[in-house]
Parts: sequence; C-alpha cells; structure tokens
Amino acid sequence: ATTLGAAAAQSGRYFGTAIAASRLNDGTYSSIAGREFNMVTAENEMKPDATEPQRGQFNFSAGDQIYNWATQRGMKVRGHTLAWHSQQPSWWGGLSGSSLRQAMIDHINGVMAHYKGKLAAWDVVNEAFNEDGSRRNSNLQATGNDWIEVAFRTARAADPSVKLCYNDYNIENWSYGKTQGVYRMIQDFKSRGVPIDCVGLQTHFTGGSSLPSNFQTTLSSFAALGVDVALTEVDVTNASTSQYSGLTQACLNVPRCIGITVWGVRDSDSWRSSESPLLFDGGGNKKAAYTSVLNALNAA
Ligand code: G3I
Repeated sequence: ATTLGAAAAQSGRYFGTAIAASRLNDGTYSSIAGREFNMVTAENEMKPDATEPQRGQFNFSAGDQIYNWATQRGMKVRGHTLAWHSQQPSWWGGLSGSSLRQAMIDHINGVMAHYKGKLAAWDVVNEAFNEDGSRRNSNLQATGNDWIEVAFRTARAADPSVKLCYNDYNIENWSYGKTQGVYRMIQDFKSRGVPIDCVGLQTHFTGGSSLPSNFQTTLSSFAALGVDVALTEVDVTNASTSQYSGLTQACLNVPRCIGITVWGVRDSDSWRSSESPLLFDGGGNKKAAYTSVLNALNAA
C-alpha cells in the first residue's frame, strides 16, 4: 500500500494523526492528512476547556468541524479527552470536592451525549499518574481516589458503544514506575469490573535511537489484562528512523495493538516543532521516517 492508513489496514489496524481545526483550511495540510490517515484525534478541540467553557453550556463547533472533516473522508475519530488536570474550563477552578466531582460527571455526560455512537474511542482520563507510579495531585484527585473509576463508570453508561481508554505518557518503558502504576490500576479495574477497554500510550519519545526498554513487553503486558492498546500521540526527537520503525514493529507484533496515531502532520504543526519529530517536513515532504514506517507496515 502507498499510504500509512491503507498500509496499516492490511493488518486490521489504523494509522491516525492529531488534527487542529485551525489548520484545515491550509491546503497542503488537509491534502496530506486526508490522503495518508484513516483515524483522527482532535488536538485540542474536544478537551474540557473547549467543549464546556461555561457550566452547562457546551460548545462543539470546533470539535464537530474536525469530526465532519474526518468522517466525510471515511476516517474514524478518537475522542480526546474528558477528564484531565490540564486544559480545564476556568470555572472548574472555583470548584472542589463533591461539586467538582459532579461537574466532571455532568461534563462527561454532556460531551458523550453529543458524540454518542459516533466515535471509535474516548480517552476518558488523561495523565493521572506521577512518574513514580503514584497518583498525580490535581483538583480531580483531591475529590477522592475513586475519581478515575467514577469517570469510567459514567462514560460507559453515557455511551455503551464507544471504547473507553486511559491515556498517558512515559508508560512505554516496562520497568518504569509510572508504567507499573498504570498497569496496577488497569489490573484492579479489570478484577473489579470497572469498565475499561483500552490503554493509550502517548509515545512522545525523546533522544536516542533505540526504543525504551521492553516497549513491546509493555504493550503485550497491558494487552494480557484484556484491554486493547494503541500508540496515541507519537512523535520522536528528530524523527529517528530506527525508533519510528521500531515502535511500528512493536505494535504490529502485538495482536491487541490496534493502531498508531502521530501527534500532528508536518513538523511545523507539532507542539514540539523545534525537534522536527513528525513524518512530514514543514514543506509537506515525506521524511525518511515516513518511509521506515510505511515499509514496516507493508512488511507485516
Ligand atoms: O487557541 C489559543 C489561541 O487563541 C491563543 O491566542 C494562543 C495563545 O497562547 O493559545 C492558543 O491555545 C493553545 C492551544 O494549544 C492551541 O494552539 C494553548 O495556548 C496551548 O497550551 C495548547 O497546547 C496544546 C497542549 O496539549 C496543551 O496542554 C497543544 O496544542 C497540544 O498538542 C497538546 O497536546 C497534549 C495532549 O493533549 C496530551 N498529551 C500531551 C500533548 C502534548 O503536550
């Protein structure tokens, strides 16, 4: 196959990108994105600050712009994200305890009702752990340690048809504390019947030319708990070809690794553009990393 999406589809997987609504009228951007990918994540437009700027007043205009752009092209959409310590609506800042807990529940219900039956997955909770595997301090964590499971139970009831994911960064190295902390939570959720379907490994790689230790072991270990895994926000310092082909191969080697999403189209679109971490350069040309990923997908 000659595009990332079609090449990934040969093994039943998807290849996606983050999309920024503000860039969709850039012809180079939208033609590359529309050609290469078959899954889309809104880079910012479905986050709590964007979707519920005032309490109970939802705004889906930018999120819908991305959703419509993607589905008109036959692409699927991952929802990102419902509950996170960052990019919260400013009015959450005035709440705590049970009122913040209720605001989170109402937010999940309001957003998921709008997208009910339309999305492939939701990142229900994003980045809730510290590097050592303990829970990250946040206003949400302060509402009680059960806030994550309440978010997942609320989400399942709101839309039983969509896959519910926990999403985080620095959980790619199997021997890392944070990876183990997230693993124990998924294990606990599965043992107690808390609804969860998938783990998103953001896969923001920095430096070096080799993958974090036992990356494939991490994927297969999460999968063995009975969840799908996905690489959800891939970017790599200087787009190291060996890391890009290695992360692609690791996903291909794990049956429950269902897809890969890169966190932007061109280097110039990236949140860390100075590191040139994506598959297309600022001019929209395919980089060596693009070819290494495409070849790995085609060899599967
Ligand atoms: O849209 C406003 C614009 O109106 C304003 O003039 C401008 C001035 O600062 O800010 C613009 O908003 C920025 C927004 O991106 C859109 O460009 C925010 O400041 C900026 O903070 C925001 O950054 C986003 C970041 O999440 C915020 O946490 C990045 O685009 C986005 O790529 C990044 O994505 C996160 C994932 O959601 C979770 N994992 C890590 C990943 C990278 O940080």
